Amino acid sequence: MTKAPSYPHDLFTDESLIDSTGHYRAMRALGPVVWSVAHEMYVLPRYADVRTALADAETFCSGKGVGLSPLFNEKAAGRNLLMTDGALHLKLRKLFAQDLTPRRLRRVQEQVDEQALRVADDVVRKRDIDAVADLARALPLTIVPDLIGWPEDGREHLLTWAGATFDLLGPMNARAQCAAPQAQEMFAFAAQTAEEGRMLPDSVGAAVVEAARRGEIEPDRASALLVGYLAPSLDTTISALGAAFWLFSQHPDQWQALRADPSLVPNAFNEVVRLSSPIRTFSRVTTRDVIIDGISVPEGARLMLHYAAANRDETQFPDPDAFDVRRPNAGEHLGFGFGPHGCAGQGLARMEAHALLEALISRVERWELHEATPNLNNIISGWASLAMTLHPAEGAAMQLVGTDTAAEGER
Ligand code: HEM
Repeated sequence: MTKAPSYPHDLFTDESLIDSTGHYRAMRALGPVVWSVAHEMYVLPRYADVRTALADAETFCSGKGVGLSPLFNEKAAGRNLLMTDGALHLKLRKLFAQDLTPRRLRRVQEQVDEQALRVADDVVRKRDIDAVADLARALPLTIVPDLIGWPEDGREHLLTWAGATFDLLGPMNARAQCAAPQAQEMFAFAAQTAEEGRMLPDSVGAAVVEAARRGEIEPDRASALLVGYLAPSLDTTISALGAAFWLFSQHPDQWQALRADPSLVPNAFNEVVRLSSPIRTFSRVTTRDVIIDGISVPEGARLMLHYAAANRDETQFPDPDAFDVRRPNAGEHLGFGFGPHGCAGQGLARMEAHALLEALISRVERWELHEATPNLNNIISGWASLAMTLHPAEGAAMQLVGTDTAAEGER
């Protein structure tokens, strides 16, 4: 048995956030478990170990928080779905899942498809666009708050609030400190909304507030649950969609492959999530002494389970930095997590992404990128803006000619 090798670098400086692939490669090469000197915790950077740990929630627990700073974990642990274990986690997950069942999602599907066509027509008409503001944000920002039941007022702050929550899940650096007041605003708004019973009827949020009224969950847990549903559902999908448009602008051959065979869309989206890993990492705490590939980790240790490093593991994904919409095992990525805490909203995220990509492949011939500005967030990777010109596909302009609502005709 050996001690974990040390890795000295800060993984959350601006430079690291902009491009971490070198850090990921170096950590994977060092060993199955690495001691991060900068963050004072272990890191699992390899695919097989991250997957095994995610599957074993009894040994690698979430109930002591999944963030990277002791201060945040102390406050948030045990409060929401993401940061609970065992029976309580199952109960909260059932409450959330009952409103995201395939049957419920089918009802949302129609709305998503219509919205995707409208958005695709709009951007083709505009041509010069910001692919983040005009495309990536368009669907999540209309679909998700409705589904969660977030009241109309306060929606204009959602992106800032959700981003702040993810910054706080990272280490307590300057970025997290700046985010604290905004995250607090979100909690205060959610608490007030839950207390006043203002969640939209027939929504996930309304179900939470009802469950609290019936005494099935503690009333003061309701607002934390609402934030726990909302925060992970916006930036994640927006980040993945932004990554898709950036990747397709850099790899026109992959866009043409998708246009030639639209049945590749689900695999292409998996490949985007694998390469971009919208959530870089969350952490776990060990509930007993464990040995991971010969390296001992004591009980009570905090480990980063590094989804992004695992998703670039060359032993799992040959030529891992290549973008290949036909990659045979793209669906094995850990970008949605895995095991008991695996993403509860991935059905919705996939639905939004597939609808948008399908609407765009018949309309867009080529993505010409002018300027890409990264969004520097501790946990969420992605773009703040992507200035582009869209080159319409032959026939796409025809779909728009003579009518302001070409999408109507198509429906
Ligand atoms: C591309 C988009 C998305 C990505 C990449 C993503 C990623 C993830 C990941 C990595 C986890 C695992 C957390 C862990 O291991 O502790 C997770 C959990 C979760 N996600 Fe997502 N997510 C996405 C979209 C969504 C959406 C749209 C929703 C809501 C409608 C959502 C709701 C949740 C919830 C509630 C959990 C906690 C599940 C639990 O702890 O049991 N996510 N997500």
